[in-house]
Amino acid sequence: MNALVLGATQGIGQALARQLGARGDTLFLLGRDASALERSARDIEARCGRAPAGYAICDLSAPEGFATALDAAWRALGRVDVVIVTAGQFGTQEELENDRARLATMLQVNFSNTILFCEDARERLLAAGGGTLCVLSSVAGDRGRKPVVLYGSTKAGLSYYLEALDHAYRSRGLVTICVKPGFVKTGMTAALKPPPFAGEPESVARDIIRAIDRGTPLLYTPRAWALVMRIIRLLPRAVMRRIGF
Ligand SMILES: NC(=O)c1ccc[n+]([C@@H]2O[C@H](COP(=O)([O-])OP(=O)(O)OC[C@H]3O[C@@H](n4cnc5c(N)ncnc54)[C@H](OP(=O)(O)O)[C@@H]3O)[C@@H](O)[C@H]2O)c1
Repeated sequence: MNALVLGATQGIGQALARQLGARGDTLFLLGRDASALERSARDIEARCGRAPAGYAICDLSAPEGFATALDAAWRALGRVDVVIVTAGQFGTQEELENDRARLATMLQVNFSNTILFCEDARERLLAAGGGTLCVLSSVAGDRGRKPVVLYGSTKAGLSYYLEALDHAYRSRGLVTICVKPGFVKTGMTAALKPPPFAGEPESVARDIIRAIDRGTPLLYTPRAWALVMRIIRLLPRAVMRRIGF
């Protein structure tokens, strides 16, 4: 498989890129920082015995660079089977309420610019006959919840986009996978107390690769979060207003 990964420099994306590289998939890395990309490429080469086909700068806060980055990836890989987006930003509700500039960046990076990036990828995949687009959303978008009013709203919008994209284009060969991680122990959550059912990036990455291989349109990972969120989605609004979840 030829895979393009945006976000392989840390966390879930890094675990995913390592596992794809280890099983022999050819990678192209996209990210916002050249030295972090270089480090990731070397790490994959050392672990897998084969370097990625290349890397290019792609900053989700700068959509004017998306076309150039995707063109570089397509040139290096020839054919692209899967485009994976794990890049994203988080802030606690308190941090985001108190910092409008940070909030504005997160809203753009997680929602509008991720969708702009996906639209560019969608066009290229469809023009080549199809492929897979796999994007990390979050359980935080499944229900309006007090601790994630702002972050959750970006993931809610993203999840709807990804579901609709799968409905619209699967018949033309474009499979869209929406991944909804629960709590995963990465740099993003390092300052938070892990709840029950917290997952590790390596096992979450394994679940994501299985979903890509099978074309599963919606993945909750770790698995327990599918049940947790089924219950949360059923709770009446009056209960949601009272609880801290
Ligand atoms: N961890 C969780 O509990 C959890 C739960 C639900 C959903 N998620 C979602 O899963 C995805 C991966 O999360 P993670 O835990 O692996 O996060 P992470 O360890 O913080 O990694 C985030 C990645 O996003 C990249 N990134 C951030 N801003 C960017 C920008 N403007 N342009 C390009 N790349 C950018 C980072 O690149 P740099 O290395 O350059 O900083 C890094 O590679 C995110 O979409 C997150 O919202 C995570």
